[in-house]
Amino acid sequence: MFLVYKLTFANIKVLNFISVKFESIKRKEGILMNKKPYYITTPIYYPSAKLHIGNTYTTVAADAVARFKRLTGYDVMFLTGSDEHGQKIQRIAEEKGVTPKQYVDEIVAGIKELWKLMNISYDKFIRTTDNYHEESVKKIFKKLYDKGDIYKGEYEGWYCTPCESFFTESQLVDGKCPDCGRPVEKAKEEAYFFKMSKYADRLIEYIETHPDFIQPETRKNEMLNNFLRPGLQDLCVSRTSFNWGIPVEFDTDHVVYVWIDALSNYITALGYLNDEPALMEKYWPADVHLIGKDILRFHTIYWPIMLMALELPLPKQVFGHGWLMLEGGKMSKSKGNIVDPEVLVEHFGVDAVRYYLLHEIPFGSDGIFSNEIFIKKTNSDLANDLGNLLSRTVTMISKYFGGEMPAPNVKEAVDDELIKLALETPSKVEKEIDDLKIPYALDHIWTLIRRTNKYIDETEPWILGKDESKKDRLSTVLYNLSESLRFISVLVSPFLPETSEKINEQLNIDLTSWDSLVSFDGTKAGTKVEKKGVIFPRIDVEKKLAEFEKIAEEQRKAAAAANDEEKQEMIPIKDEITIDDFDKIDLRVVTVLECEPIKKAKKLLKLKVDLGGEIRQVVSGIAQHYKPEDLIGKQVILVANLKPVKLRGELSQGMILAAYTNDDSKLVLAGIQGKLPNGSQVG
Ligand code: MSP
Repeated sequence: MFLVYKLTFANIKVLNFISVKFESIKRKEGILMNKKPYYITTPIYYPSAKLHIGNTYTTVAADAVARFKRLTGYDVMFLTGSDEHGQKIQRIAEEKGVTPKQYVDEIVAGIKELWKLMNISYDKFIRTTDNYHEESVKKIFKKLYDKGDIYKGEYEGWYCTPCESFFTESQLVDGKCPDCGRPVEKAKEEAYFFKMSKYADRLIEYIETHPDFIQPETRKNEMLNNFLRPGLQDLCVSRTSFNWGIPVEFDTDHVVYVWIDALSNYITALGYLNDEPALMEKYWPADVHLIGKDILRFHTIYWPIMLMALELPLPKQVFGHGWLMLEGGKMSKSKGNIVDPEVLVEHFGVDAVRYYLLHEIPFGSDGIFSNEIFIKKTNSDLANDLGNLLSRTVTMISKYFGGEMPAPNVKEAVDDELIKLALETPSKVEKEIDDLKIPYALDHIWTLIRRTNKYIDETEPWILGKDESKKDRLSTVLYNLSESLRFISVLVSPFLPETSEKINEQLNIDLTSWDSLVSFDGTKAGTKVEKKGVIFPRIDVEKKLAEFEKIAEEQRKAAAAANDEEKQEMIPIKDEITIDDFDKIDLRVVTVLECEPIKKAKKLLKLKVDLGGEIRQVVSGIAQHYKPEDLIGKQVILVANLKPVKLRGELSQGMILAAYTNDDSKLVLAGIQGKLPNGSQVG
């Protein structure tokens, strides 16, 4: 029997050796050669509200990549932080009756707590209120001014405070912010401007000749076609209407525009123009700025132009990931799903949340969050696939070998497929991470997990365990299961670090390096194996959903109460008009006759309204607030002499009036008290 084992095992080893030799050499060489710096950043977060589960995505994704790079031998610098200046923060602090610094200190402490909870392994947390950052930004501004790239002028246009962005009249959509759709404010003030246009051609050429610079590919075209090619305007880079910002050193009535301040963090954190320039030499240019798609314009236009002006190399890549959305649209507590990461972690553990985020936002596009999908995924992928595999393996080693890891003995052909897949998986995962295709990397690991489960079904260890003469074969099966779990534990460690530790603890694994994955024999026979609880308990979907519905209801009530209580920020009244100006607007009472959604336009409804003697078609952005059937028969107010436009290919002959909160979370159609003939004038 011993001889059979020796021969079989040796043969298979030789085969394995040949099949993986190339892979292993390639990987080992890679590791040795790639002992090089890797710099990854997340955006720095506004401390303006409690972070929801969608916000945490960028940082969890960056953490997974940073951990993976450390595992595969890179010298990693992972930067995150907080973006604390600007009009938005100043206003919130004023409303709360505290100083901006008091306000941000408290919120930033909460953000750091959240990152601790989410197991974020950042190397540095930068605050834009840190002294070294402020000093560097002052020098950056002065340097650009001295160079002639910044000049003084006057700004007149529109400002979106939530986005901290400037817009011209023509860039507004329906008079609102083209990025977030919220109302904008008129701004007219003395300001410094950055000559963006001077660098536009160089940037276009750079983007065209560096295909990896903006990723995913589709986002690159959006930047080129929508912003760069139509021509860049000079950017307003200072403000005088508030003072919560970094002062312009040579003209202290001005504070530096918050995006110039914020984007600089990526180099000030490395000591640029301050005390620690050694980090700059080592880590700049960044390997990747990981950001959400909403802030791509700042990172692929303003930021590279700033760097060009500072004569610094550009980051190797800016990756704009998709968003995590709720089924009904953007994340918000009032929508009833549990979007608070702390609540989710409390109920399911940090790795269930990390897994969902990392696996459910498809590469390059948006993902959906719902409590139900989340719970079902946790059950299927984590409790069933991974949790059961570990639990069955440890239980069988305890039952058949008294909890002592057996040595491999009799090998059979069925083992080869598992071993081959295990040995091939690391390089597949590495390739996906190099391309930032995080969900695909997890797919490869789960293919190995599922293959290992299938191996249990194929080898039937519970039958082998009944027959003493098959004990040697049983040893091999359980050894292979444990070794496969060792591979899985190492592979999964960047994504689910806590789970990896739990697997290591139960199987007593101490060989956890990346290069230990070049051969399938790292598990040590004779080590003690011990079951220490279930790593992912199965969740009763119905029960949990009911429990969550209660929590969600409370959250909804709290959000509504907070909305009622919190006086909403007063948007300044627009410039004065005369009665003649007002008289130009023709408002009429109309009745909604028909109403239907517009395909692929979640926000829009198409209405047919009776203007008395004339039927009009109107497209209105109210779909998230009204169901078509609720509107039919209602009388509303129409701006009847508005120039017709086409929205999503549909003609809109006028605009329905509505009132909405500043953040657009609530919208109510304007109407009349009582009934009037259609076509009646409003004035
Ligand atoms: N302060 C700026 C960034 C300055 S970087 C020099 C900012 N901050 S933020 O707090 O509004 O956003 C932080 C990150 O959260 C961004 O990458 C943003 O895209 C991301 N997300 C916000 N909501 C999100 C989802 N629902 N889903 C995924 N990511 C989301 O922008």
